[in-house]
Amino acid sequence: MKSFLNASDIGDLHKALDEALEVKANPFKWQHLGRNKTIILVFFNNSLRTRLSSQKAALNLGMNPIVLNVNGDSWNLETQMGVVMDGGKSEHLREAIPVIGSYCDIIGVRSFAGLTDREADYNENILRQFIDYSGVPVISLESATVHPCQAFADLITIEEHKTKARPKVVMTWAPHPKALPQAVPNSFAQWMNAADVDFVITQPEGYEVDPAFAGNARIEYDQMRALEGADFVYAKNWSCPGVSCPEKYGRILSRDMSWTVDAAHMAVTDNAFFMHCLPVRRNMIVSDEVIDSPTSLVIPEAANRVVSAQVVMKRMLEELA
Ligand code: CP
Repeated sequence: MKSFLNASDIGDLHKALDEALEVKANPFKWQHLGRNKTIILVFFNNSLRTRLSSQKAALNLGMNPIVLNVNGDSWNLETQMGVVMDGGKSEHLREAIPVIGSYCDIIGVRSFAGLTDREADYNENILRQFIDYSGVPVISLESATVHPCQAFADLITIEEHKTKARPKVVMTWAPHPKALPQAVPNSFAQWMNAADVDFVITQPEGYEVDPAFAGNARIEYDQMRALEGADFVYAKNWSCPGVSCPEKYGRILSRDMSWTVDAAHMAVTDNAFFMHCLPVRRNMIVSDEVIDSPTSLVIPEAANRVVSAQVVMKRMLEELA
C-alpha cells in the first residue's frame, strides 16, 4: 500500500476486518516489523484521537513515532506552488516533504480542508504533495476530503456490534456552531458503500455529500423517516459540500436544532447504537441522554482507532520488509 486515502486502498474489506480483529486480539505480535523503522506524523491541525492512536499503533508495531506540529514546532510552511515567498512562510513543502521523507519509513499527514477553494480541497493539494515528493508510503490522518483511519475504525466497530447480517446504517447531519470539513462524512459514506450494510444518508437541503463518496447511498431529507428501523445512527456535522450550490461551498446553511440526535430520534430506530467520531459538541450534535446511554459506541469507536491505524501501518511495513 503506497498510500492510504480510500476504502479501495485496503483491498478486500472482509480480509481487512478479519485482520483488524486479529490485530486487536494480539496487538504486540508484529513488533518485529517495526524494528528500526520510523513513522513521522505531520499535523497541520489539532487532534486528540488521531495523534495518540497513531503513536500507540506505531509503538505496538515496534516503530519509533515522531510527531511534527507544523504550526507550532517547525517553520511556517508554504503549500502553494509559484508564489513569491516574501511573507511569513519560511519554507516550502516542496523541500520540507523530501527532507521529512529522508528521516522516516512512513509518513502520516493531517491537513484539513481550507473550505474556501473547493477545487484545491477536492484535489487534496497538501496530501498529494506528500504522496508525490516524500518517497515513502503516506497515510491520510484526515486530509481535505477523507478520514480513512476513522472510517475503518467505524466499520470495525459496526462489525463488532451488529446483530444482523446486513444492518441498516444511517448517517445523519446534525447542527454545529462552526463550519466543519466533509472528510468524515465522505469517508464514512465511501466505506459504508463498500461494506455489506443498508446505507442511508439524511441531511437538510444543500448538504448533499459529493457523489464520488455518496455513491449509491439512499438519500432521505426527512430525518425521522430515515432513522426508522436503523441499527446504527452515525451523527456528524459537515459544511456545505457545494454539490447543488457551489457558491456556498464550506458554509453553514442550517442551524436547525431539531436535527440534534435525542431520545425521540433514537425511539424510531430498532434500538440503534449511536456513533460519532469525536470530538462532539454535546446538546448540539447529540443529547447528553443519548451519548451517555448504554447504546452509545463513541468510546469503543475511538479505541478502535488504534486498531485501524495498526492494520494500515502493518501492511505498509510488510511491503517494506
Ligand atoms: N476523530 C478524530 O479524528 O479525532 P481527533 O480530531 O481528536 O484526532
